[in-house]
Amino acid sequence: MTTDNHEEPKLLFNPFDAAFRANPYPFYDRLRDIEPVHTSPFGFVVLSRYDDVARTLRGAEFARDIEAHVTERPDDPRRERRERQRRRREDGSAAKTILNLDPPDHTRLRRLVSLAFTPTAIERLRPRVQQLVDEALDRAADRGSIELVEDLAFPVPFQVISDLLDLPTDRIADVRDWSQALTASLEPTADEATLDASEHAGMEMGRYLSEVIAERRQHPGDDLLSALIAAEEAGDRMSEAELRSFLILLYVAGHETTVNLIGNGMLALLRHPDEMRRWAADPSLDAGAIDELLRYDGPVQETVRVPTVDVRYGDVEVAKGTMVMTLLGAANHDPAVFDDPHRLRLDRPGANRHLAFAAGVHYCLGASLAKLETGVALTTLIRRFPDVALDGEVSWRDRLTIRGVDRLPLALR
Ligand code: HEM
Repeated sequence: MTTDNHEEPKLLFNPFDAAFRANPYPFYDRLRDIEPVHTSPFGFVVLSRYDDVARTLRGAEFARDIEAHVTERPDDPRRERRERQRRRREDGSAAKTILNLDPPDHTRLRRLVSLAFTPTAIERLRPRVQQLVDEALDRAADRGSIELVEDLAFPVPFQVISDLLDLPTDRIADVRDWSQALTASLEPTADEATLDASEHAGMEMGRYLSEVIAERRQHPGDDLLSALIAAEEAGDRMSEAELRSFLILLYVAGHETTVNLIGNGMLALLRHPDEMRRWAADPSLDAGAIDELLRYDGPVQETVRVPTVDVRYGDVEVAKGTMVMTLLGAANHDPAVFDDPHRLRLDRPGANRHLAFAAGVHYCLGASLAKLETGVALTTLIRRFPDVALDGEVSWRDRLTIRGVDRLPLALR
């Protein structure tokens, strides 16, 4: 290992360090400079160069079904839990989601929903998204202030995914709690209690959604859930457990991440008022600006893969079965690909090369939806209230995998 400045290699990547979670970007730079293919004492390899991350996400020799391919360490806290999950799948009460499957199962299940998420299908939702954003801003205008996360960034994506699936919104508080508990388990720092809470939340949410599915079987509509049920009933293409897991994934992914893009994006604009003013005045920036916000401070900072054969990154060999962490946020700030990467530049050429939605077969299914929601939310806000300003303390969710502000109070003048 190269340690030019005599740093302890184990300190290069430390998600337990609060300073790292608060602002990981300087740490990413250091990692990329010192040891871009870093063997962490936590038992995995960490990648911070754009090319290595992109190759890993795209390569067929890297699996997303961690459980099936990882070489388990005897002290892995997730080991027993994986065994329990395996038994549940065998008795048909649980199933993996597309996010945890490789082709051909991944291909079969993803095909069932992909049509509902094409850019053309999503564009049809624009008037509804605009209406929800306008209503939230009307209420805020009366008050002269808005807490962006609570009043706009959370409720809009939540309502849109609920509309798409035609899910009732009366258990919104429960669904929000379950989603938070489920996504907490994605953190590299997740401890036993967090993993227990996540497992419990998954079962509770599964029970609730089973009731919704049973009801929808009786009264189908023209929503996405009814379409998935029809696909399930048409043959063995999707089992009941697969349907339930899929629903949980869509529900959670449908709002947990976009909330952070709206929040982090708005904060980035407030910190770059010239860029914000330029964007407010120039709609031709709309498409590229969202990509730049995703690149600059995307909500998903890392994901994992496992090579199914021995692989090499330059002169570093990585054995098959090793957990490989791809730092999306680090790739998006790699100066080899993005000039002056820490600068927010809404008209940046090539901003859409970012990896904030990952790449390859697992490329975010909801990318067009997330961009539509964020675009409508931010452009409406900054054009209707050009003097919008921070009005109190910003706070962050103390998380790395899905990272974002959880409180952003704004004055609307
Ligand atoms: C800004 C918001 C979003 C970000 C940054 C984001 C990011 C990501 C990333 C990085 C992945 C790939 C993970 C991996 O390869 O390991 C992913 C997958 C996925 N996302 Fe999103 N996402 C967002 C919004 C959404 C929305 C609104 C939905 C709505 C339905 C959604 C649904 C999914 C699904 C179903 C997958 C799994 C795809 C697969 O495995 O084939 N996401 N997302």
